[in-house]
Amino acid sequence: MPYPYVLLSAAVSLDGYLDDTGPERLLLSSPADFDRVDEVRASVDAILVGAGTIRADNPRLLVNSPERRAARVAAGRPEYPLKVTVSGSGELDPDAKFWHTGGEKVLYTTEKGAERARGLGLAADVVALGPDLDWATLLTHLYEERGVRRLMVEGGGTIHTQLLRQGLADELQLVLAPLLVGDPAAPRLFGPGGYQGGRLRLLQTRRIEDVVLMRYEPTAPGTGRSVTAADRHWMRIACDLAALCPPSETAFSVGAVVVAADGTELARGHSREGDDPVVHAEEAALAKIDPADPRLAAATVYSSLEPCARRASRPAPCARLILDAGVRRVVTAWREPDTFVPGADGSGLLTGQGVDVVVLPEYEDRAKAPNRHLPALE
Ligand SMILES: NC(=O)c1ccc[n+]([C@@H]2O[C@H](COP(=O)([O-])OP(=O)(O)OC[C@H]3O[C@@H](n4cnc5c(N)ncnc54)[C@H](OP(=O)(O)O)[C@@H]3O)[C@@H](O)[C@H]2O)c1
Ligand SMILES: [Zn+2]
Repeated sequence: MPYPYVLLSAAVSLDGYLDDTGPERLLLSSPADFDRVDEVRASVDAILVGAGTIRADNPRLLVNSPERRAARVAAGRPEYPLKVTVSGSGELDPDAKFWHTGGEKVLYTTEKGAERARGLGLAADVVALGPDLDWATLLTHLYEERGVRRLMVEGGGTIHTQLLRQGLADELQLVLAPLLVGDPAAPRLFGPGGYQGGRLRLLQTRRIEDVVLMRYEPTAPGTGRSVTAADRHWMRIACDLAALCPPSETAFSVGAVVVAADGTELARGHSREGDDPVVHAEEAALAKIDPADPRLAAATVYSSLEPCARRASRPAPCARLILDAGVRRVVTAWREPDTFVPGADGSGLLTGQGVDVVVLPEYEDRAKAPNRHLPALE
């Protein structure tokens, strides 16, 4: 079953609360972080919040920057991401701002909830998923019926807890705010109960005014993500290619293979191959393929390291080259660390444009092996 890339986003107090119990929404983040959230919103196809958040906060969930909206339109996307909410009860306020701002809206609910919601005349599509609300069905529906490839989930805790617990979250973007709520009746980010997968993988930390952004990747095995034996085969080859790179103190050693849907290898490459001291693996491989090759549209790029999102040595980063080549699937073993380009998010750039990015963490050690000499690599 195909699912969108699911990014959980939240701000919490030092003691792990999402809000206090007062009538007003507690402001946890800082102005610069609200702008970062605006940027993330602009990168996604859809934003989801639970009915509880609509009732508590009455949020609008817009992309506020006119420049970011204009860039979406210029790229052929809707001005605003699709707004999605979930409710079991169907008890929603039809006057809430959620329904009356931004672009299209959809409510996912149960059969019972749909009966009630349809009577409210909500300015939204109402989709009944059955007697209960099943997250896998919801995500598949968003992917297949609404074309959502990248989904941002903005709470509340009930929603975040279910998605993390069911292994359906691909990334957690958490902002830690320097204040204490201290009220056990306040809502928490993650509720009590069992979580699988142990420690999450820390991808990035960044100070933003007085808050800290942390990006994590859950390590619980995702359900329903399609990884084949062929994917593992080609990833091993990409890692072997990485070992062929001439050593460098200032760049990663990476291997990449481009493979057609029928399993035919179209090209391979590695960092600094041939006489080019700065060429990247994906770039080297793609350069060997005729850009008009019709097999590119259904091909997969296997790269031992996540494709770069920014680079100084060339006008276009590899994520852009992959998009320009029309490739829609990327498999990688290792998310780019902050060694050379802090905050690079090649996967975000790709998934934001609808490319399916699959990470195979079991090959991370092999991908890192030719890079062990680099500074700050754990
Ligand atoms: N700090 C932050 O970043 C942040 C972000 C968002 C929210 N918040 C805070 O979080 C609080 C709200 O969180 P919350 O946990 O109460 O609400 P929530 O997670 O936004 O929504 C919960 C509601 O969603 C529906 N729902 C969730 N899972 C469902 C399922 N499996 N089947 C059917 N319906 C389901 C139910 O709606 P029905 O009740 O209609 O059945 C449920 O009551 C507020 O205080 C808000 O300020 C903070
Ligand atoms: Zn690159």
